[in-house]
Amino acid sequence: MKDKFLWGSATAAYQCEGAWDEDGKGPSIWDDYCHSTANLTGITGDVSCDHYHHFKEDIKMMAEGNQNTYRFSISWSRILPKDDHVVNEAGFRFYDELIDECEKYGIVPNVTLVHYDLPDYIGTWTNPKVSDEFAYYASVVFKHFGNRIPLYATINEPSHNTACCYLIGNYPPNEHNMQHFVECAYNMAVCTAKAIREFRKLNLNSTIGVVHASGASESLADTPKYLEAIKYSNMFHNDWVLDPAIKGYYEDELIEKVKSSGIDLSFVKKEDLEIIKDNTVDWIGQNAYDRNLVKPYTGGETTATVNNRGDNDGTSKSARESKIIKGWFEVDRDENVPLNKWGREVYPRQIYNTLLRIKDRYGNIPIWITENGHGQYDIADENGYVEDNERIEFLNNYLQWILKAKEDGVNVRGYYVWSTMDLYSWINGYKKRYGLVRVDYEDGNLKRTPKKSFYWYKDFITKYKDI
Ligand code: NOJ
Repeated sequence: MKDKFLWGSATAAYQCEGAWDEDGKGPSIWDDYCHSTANLTGITGDVSCDHYHHFKEDIKMMAEGNQNTYRFSISWSRILPKDDHVVNEAGFRFYDELIDECEKYGIVPNVTLVHYDLPDYIGTWTNPKVSDEFAYYASVVFKHFGNRIPLYATINEPSHNTACCYLIGNYPPNEHNMQHFVECAYNMAVCTAKAIREFRKLNLNSTIGVVHASGASESLADTPKYLEAIKYSNMFHNDWVLDPAIKGYYEDELIEKVKSSGIDLSFVKKEDLEIIKDNTVDWIGQNAYDRNLVKPYTGGETTATVNNRGDNDGTSKSARESKIIKGWFEVDRDENVPLNKWGREVYPRQIYNTLLRIKDRYGNIPIWITENGHGQYDIADENGYVEDNERIEFLNNYLQWILKAKEDGVNVRGYYVWSTMDLYSWINGYKKRYGLVRVDYEDGNLKRTPKKSFYWYKDFITKYKDI
């Protein structure tokens, strides 16, 4: 596994497992949110594609597709259902069996400890107890699985998760609150560091990283004002996650900029900063979606919009997603770049630019492309087969840039398509699909059918397996 390039696909617990209250699992904040009146669509992940009961079939299919690695996440609430540190052994049993199945086919598990779905008793990322509780949960997981999991990741997409919870307000707790945004961001960095401290105590052969969402910032001009907007956008989207995780500290300029934006940083503790300094990651997971195209801030309050609410949910004409960060930057629009149905740029070169920026700033750190995928309204024929040519084109174009970055010296070690099969796409529900394998939600047995992209990816892996 050490030097072998890994080819696989990815899922996340709440999005695919279903079995939301089975075998002693406690509720997560996503269970609570989806079951509340705040969930306007009433759509939930209660069953989803029921990976909890279909995992053998799903893993077998991955192996048939030549995939040799599976990225999934563990549901914290399955392992520690209540606020009492008592482990639910049935929760471990599920993941033990899942990993047995991976091992049977030589599929390497790459496991994220939390993918948005905090236990309900933690509540929010601004809970002052979150980092100690997370470290406890992480230590229980490390002790249980040890080297059976070669690749651990602490948190999925701190930047996107924080933005959804506290800027856009489309994930629970659905706030627009930049003070909480910064507290959440900081707590996530402390969570990662405290979990890594537990991990190092065990001297495992495994390695640990964090999965990052945002790409390098770019602009359409290179005047000093535009270059400054790029710098602020990188600070806002990237540096607050990757600097503490990889370098062990925040740059003074970031701290000063946050303070001058009126954020009260009195919650920052000296001892946390020491822990961050001493506990950095071994690798980075980089997710590959759209790009951060920005221009100088011109005016208006901090705000961000996405197109997955109301009538603009991908079915109507797409509008560019917007973002203004007061005093920092604004999102720009390049009319030459196509938008997907949700108003996000399809710009494959972004992953090349992102990987080169990481190399430039952090040297040779190993990188796994932990997600790359294209959301679509798939149309199946009478056999459930989907000819998803647009997805194939999307993936192929991104992969060409990833391979080029590798050739140009970036330490890329593996790649995961998002997602292994169709699953719950957060507040986009089930219509927006990403899977290599179609799930028929109307069928009582949730029938799986590989799409054209599944077979395309299988061949791609054969061609590139020895890179
Ligand atoms: C990134 C997230 O990690 C995943 O949960 C989500 O479904 C995909 N993006 C697609 O939007």
